[in-house]
Amino acid sequence: MEASETFVDCLTRQFPFDIGTDEFVRNPYRFYEEVRRSSGPVHRTDSGDVVVLGYFEARAVLGDPRFGHGAQTAQDRTGYGVPARTFLLTDPPGHTRQRERVRRAFTAREILALRRRVGDIAARLVEDAARSGTADVVADVARPLSARVVADLIGVPEDLRDRFAQAAALLVRGMDPPGLIDPGTRERIARARVGLARDIGVALRRPAGTGILHALAQGADGRPARAETVATCAQLVAAGYETTVGLIANGTHALLRHPDQLARLAAAGHAERACAAAVEELLRFDPPIQLAPRCALVDADIAGTPVPRGALVFVLLGAANRDPRVFAEPHRLRLDREPRHLAFGLGSHYCLGAALARLEATAALTHLLPRRPRPTGHPVSYSPARVARSVQSLHVRLDPEGHGTGAGAPGWRG
Ligand code: HEM
Repeated sequence: MEASETFVDCLTRQFPFDIGTDEFVRNPYRFYEEVRRSSGPVHRTDSGDVVVLGYFEARAVLGDPRFGHGAQTAQDRTGYGVPARTFLLTDPPGHTRQRERVRRAFTAREILALRRRVGDIAARLVEDAARSGTADVVADVARPLSARVVADLIGVPEDLRDRFAQAAALLVRGMDPPGLIDPGTRERIARARVGLARDIGVALRRPAGTGILHALAQGADGRPARAETVATCAQLVAAGYETTVGLIANGTHALLRHPDQLARLAAAGHAERACAAAVEELLRFDPPIQLAPRCALVDADIAGTPVPRGALVFVLLGAANRDPRVFAEPHRLRLDREPRHLAFGLGSHYCLGAALARLEATAALTHLLPRRPRPTGHPVSYSPARVARSVQSLHVRLDPEGHGTGAGAPGWRG
């Protein structure tokens, strides 16, 4: 790959499709299949870079320390990604230390403690949305739910919450190659990064704050550098807000397109446990993060394919999740399977927010589905982002009263 080329340039040149098109945004899976058919689970580009589509091969890369980010990340070289060096883009030992600090502030117990509050917020949002009989699942439920929960967790002060949410929406777009983003949006993304760092600084100066933000700032292992705390919080904002919106929105859309599977959930009374199990298949079927980038840190191989040191490795999580060697009828949503999907990645960078995302999506479905969401005929729109994939508006009709409710779910006031 030429130094000036972006990931998109590379894929567009090497693949029989153009990821810059609207068609790709609407349905990338058809394009992945074309490559899988012609190249198998590992696609080598002429320049020696590698695109991984297979499930076993994706697991092998994500779990192998020979693949990482290196001194110059795949993002730096391709223009893909977040320019700030957050721990998502670092290798051990720096990564291990920073990740551990966040993990300690973000325990399973803390997530569990949020369960009732998440249920309450979801119940209220759905109730309000259903009142008029129609709603946009994204604007009325998914986005406000995710924004409130992550803001609570991080400890964002009330008066800064709208600004954090606006910055998050732009940062997720900033994970794409710059070549796919118009100059005006690029400028807004750059301003959002600076603004968010300033707002995190403002929040840190407030006394007696709560949440991860302050836990990180007062780490037991001595005061960490302020810049590191700001970068880590910015990473949580970038990683935490829009991904969960994508899960709820893509998931609801997938269910609407598979009425037989919706009926299965109705038959289970939309019970919380059934919705939680459904979330796993929804994560497999249409994951909100499609790509995990790596770089070969040494000469290596992927399932026998040699990968020279310095080669870029693009792990297509959305393609691995539909590997026909692992998932029967991979392009069908089937709630009867127990999918071991890769939507949250694997290995040392495995998503730290997975439990929270599952909790939120389960709460959203548990409260939304008893209102029998039906399409309105209004076209579904997708975010133009490629790395993150998310339905951007999803208009549905909802019954003002719930049916076959997930009684007993937190927040349910039936
Ligand atoms: C459905 C929702 C989500 C999905 C699909 C998702 C997906 C991912 C993936 C694929 C990675 C690994 C990337 C790689 O290996 O290159 C990751 C990492 C990460 N995620 Fe998530 N995520 C979600 C929600 C969240 C939430 C709610 C938070 C926090 C509030 C979060 C925080 C993080 C962090 C901090 C990392 C970096 C971990 C590390 O580098 O060690 N994520 N996520």
